[in-house]
Amino acid sequence: MARTPGHAAKIMDLGSRMKDLDPKSIQRTELVDVMGVPLFTEISEIWGSIWDFQAKPDDLLICTYPKAGTTWLQEIVAMVQSEGDPQKCDQAPIYNRIPFIEMIHPVLSGLKEAEAMPSPRTLKSHLPVQLLPPSFWEQNCKIIYVARNVKDNAVSYFHFHRMDQEMPEPGTWDQFLENFIAGKVCWGSWFDHVKGWWEAKDRHPVLYLFYEDMKEDLAREIRKVAEFLGIELPEPVLNRIVQHTTFDNMKTNPMANYSTIPPSFMDPTVSTFMRKGTVGDWKEHFTVAQSECLDEVCARELEGSNLTFRTQL
Ligand code: A3P
Repeated sequence: MARTPGHAAKIMDLGSRMKDLDPKSIQRTELVDVMGVPLFTEISEIWGSIWDFQAKPDDLLICTYPKAGTTWLQEIVAMVQSEGDPQKCDQAPIYNRIPFIEMIHPVLSGLKEAEAMPSPRTLKSHLPVQLLPPSFWEQNCKIIYVARNVKDNAVSYFHFHRMDQEMPEPGTWDQFLENFIAGKVCWGSWFDHVKGWWEAKDRHPVLYLFYEDMKEDLAREIRKVAEFLGIELPEPVLNRIVQHTTFDNMKTNPMANYSTIPPSFMDPTVSTFMRKGTVGDWKEHFTVAQSECLDEVCARELEGSNLTFRTQL
């Protein structure tokens, strides 16, 4: 059965629900340890029900470390599933079309949205491999993972903390980078995340993509997604998907760029969700010492895993 965003279009847009909240109630959250991984306090409070989430065999999960290109991959998958029909994707913002299973908020429960969604479902998560609800493994669900080089990922996460008024306080760039390297940020260590999922792909149907490869040749990576999903993409359809999912087009697409979230939550005057969308922006942020330090940590952490990243194209 074809996946359509019709269900999402029927539920009230999250952005509209957020507009009803008193901006004064917005608070930056704190992190709590869940099985060794820092998560939002709110997520930790419902952890039992997240862990017990019942995946179905035809669920597709999009999983990433935050700011690795999740939204980009979501829009690609949605376009592939709708056989390149942008109108189907334009019916609702991306966060309504694809429930974020562990997300919980006064006006949102990713779990409830996922449960209410008709199958076949496409779901999103940032959970590291060891925290994924076991039913996803038991049901042998297909999973697409995208990883991004650690330096650009850290920079993007820093700016996201600054603009999203519910994320923990990031402090200065230097302080944030220190916490990021130590894994003291929400969803934990980037190293553990990318390594854990890299190993999982040898045991489960996981398609492991890289942000840098997507920047290098978007059509090639979209073909991989379609093949993994068993969907044939005639050349004109592929070209439409490539066009629809370029950075410039997604940046101006309100159904993909998070501009429907009220500015009291995501403040575009601080930074936009679709910020730069490049490989190598880290050079504008890192000192030489920070770059060398992270190179060393990265080499040590990824040693023996045959997992490599490109920090420039
Ligand atoms: P920057 O902050 O470096 O610009 P996520 O969706 O996981 O939160 O990731 C957001 C990052 O992906 C942002 O990175 C955003 O600009 C980038 N991004 C989103 N859509 C993109 C696209 N079509 N092409 C390239 N980068 C994209």
